[in-house]
Amino acid sequence: MLDKYGRRINYMRVSVTDRCNLRCIYCMPPEGIVKKDHEDIMRYEDIAKVIKAASSLGINKIRFTGGEPLILKDIDKLIYYTGKIDSIKDIAITTNGILLYDMVDELKKLGLKRVNVSLDSLDKEKFRNITRGGDIDKVVKSIEKSLSVGIEEVKVNTVLMRGINDDEVEDFINLTKELPITIRFIELMPIGEGEEFYKKNYIDSKEILLNHKNLIPIDSQKGSTAELYKLENAKGKIGFIRPMSCKFCSDCNRIRLTSEGNIKPCLNSREEISISKYIDDDLILTKKIEETIYNKPLEHFLIEDGKSRSKKKMYQIGG
Ligand code: GTP
Ligand code: 5AD
Ligand code: SF4
Repeated sequence: MLDKYGRRINYMRVSVTDRCNLRCIYCMPPEGIVKKDHEDIMRYEDIAKVIKAASSLGINKIRFTGGEPLILKDIDKLIYYTGKIDSIKDIAITTNGILLYDMVDELKKLGLKRVNVSLDSLDKEKFRNITRGGDIDKVVKSIEKSLSVGIEEVKVNTVLMRGINDDEVEDFINLTKELPITIRFIELMPIGEGEEFYKKNYIDSKEILLNHKNLIPIDSQKGSTAELYKLENAKGKIGFIRPMSCKFCSDCNRIRLTSEGNIKPCLNSREEISISKYIDDDLILTKKIEETIYNKPLEHFLIEDGKSRSKKKMYQIGG
């Protein structure tokens, strides 16, 4: 359906948990987070009902996020169920890749089409420091396995941070020479823990583009977060996600569902509409989602405010 600004909203990002098996320095507090009670988060059956209702309004693409979506016990059932909804054409996940290796084959059989894997450094020690303990070998093996089992599209998300990983940009770009993946450099957003990092470590994508004149611009899909480029004769692509230096709100096609059952019309807006009490009333549930889509805000104010208006941290929204 269209929102009141005429944008076609066909994509729902579903955060299935705010927990994560990593604690990236720009995302999670060092001490981690307190685990929520079971009754405070939606069961997979409830998430499935919301997806079904949203699909009747024209949502045809679902991306599961977290925290880390693969730590949800029932993620396989959720993907299977989502794949059974006729009008859902695309099922994707955004994951840190730690658990993906053992799951990707099965999840693909159940309907998973596309995978975005976060990887902020190619250096073992640096990766361990950024993620506070993560093992890069597991992530790399997961990316390779995703390609080998035939996942349609594999993207790598790399959050650009001055003084932390800006010396690795060239190495990331070079990965696309042989691998059919898209490496996407993301501009750090001042959300949650990211607020402090934004002040010290933010890099404008323009800087990288100016230093890499060999990147050839290519067309990207409407509603995509990334501007796309490629190296001549490369198998993969390079993307720049520029929420700060080049807002993409006017093309936005998405809403979000949080793990406690709120519809969030924009990553950075304050408002969230609780729908958990309507789970068993399909008519009201659909109406609430419809209203939320229609009233989706026009844009974010990250640049004007210097921080997100969202009440949620990144690990609670899944980006
Ligand atoms: P595709 O579905 O493959 O286009 O992926 P995506 O870029 O939408 O999703 P992903 O989960 O890989 O997120 C990549 C980055 O884009 C993260 O930093 C997200 O926070 C950011 N992002 C995703 N959606 C939005 C959005 O609506 N607004 C803003 N500002 N950033 C977003
Ligand atoms: N700014 C930009 N991207 C972020 N991510 C997490 N926090 C931020 C932030 N403050 C990224 C993760 C993951 C994706 C879902 O969002 O690295 O790839
Ligand atoms: Fe976990 Fe992703 Fe946050 Fe890292 S960025 S702590 S992998 S949710």
